[in-house]
Amino acid sequence: MNLVIFGPPGAGKGTQSSHLVKNEGMFQLSTGDLLRAELNSGSDLSKELKKTMDAGKLVSDEIIRNLIEKKISDPLIKNKIIFDGFPRNIEQAKSLDQMLKKYDQEISLIINLKVDYSILVKRISGRLSCSICKKPFNEYFDPPIDTKACADKNCNKRDLIKRSDDNESTVTSRLKTYEEQTLPILNYYKEKGIIRDIDAMMTINEVTSQIKGIINDL
Ligand code: AP5
Ligand code: MG
Repeated sequence: MNLVIFGPPGAGKGTQSSHLVKNEGMFQLSTGDLLRAELNSGSDLSKELKKTMDAGKLVSDEIIRNLIEKKISDPLIKNKIIFDGFPRNIEQAKSLDQMLKKYDQEISLIINLKVDYSILVKRISGRLSCSICKKPFNEYFDPPIDTKACADKNCNKRDLIKRSDDNESTVTSRLKTYEEQTLPILNYYKEKGIIRDIDAMMTINEVTSQIKGIINDL
């Protein structure tokens, strides 16, 4: 089964993906993580990407499509993919359906993480991510005490890093982009009847349990 984990910046998409990787043996495909890896490469493309991401806008659909298709075509992860941070507009949602069809796959579930925006700035300002496996932690809600909590056995050599787009002005812009371009995707998926709402205001473990319940019922 392939699924999309959906929600605004800071909703918990990366956090819950890392639990699904650990507990359900799925593969996380985070376009944000793939783009940040490209940023660190220092390529010509990375300068353009940094400008767009620090402005809280979406990078071009063409760049994203190239990143995604390489992964979808990999037979090792067929029907085990968590799409995290993708699709982000209607064009990407349609293109995802086409790409999956080409490789004889589909999306079976949209996990819609519902949160009040008031909590997001605190979640984002407190976020620290593992430099090795990218798992997010939080200074306020999920302190990074135990490296065993990471999905990768090399995480004992990790640094904990802050993202350059995790500042208040970029977050405001990321939320605006989400409202204008990403949220309308739900109407596209509503017709397919595959959306399940999750109360993502609850603790991390409670959110994980809700998701587990939905997957078990499928
Ligand atoms: P991306 O990396 O996808 O960022 P985002 O969507 O803004 O989402 P975040 O990663 O900020 O939040 P999250 O939901 O993963 O939350 P997390 O689990 O970390 O994209 C970044 C940029 O890349 C975009 O702005 C865009 O420029 C570009 N981009 C990416 N994909 C693109 C695409 N497809 N097309 C075009 N451009 C694209 O949790 C947040 C914090 O809260 C953590 O500290 C965590 O510990 C904590 N937390 C999580 N859940 C809970 C809970 N239940 N209770 C308390 N704390 C919690
Ligand atoms: Mg994330």
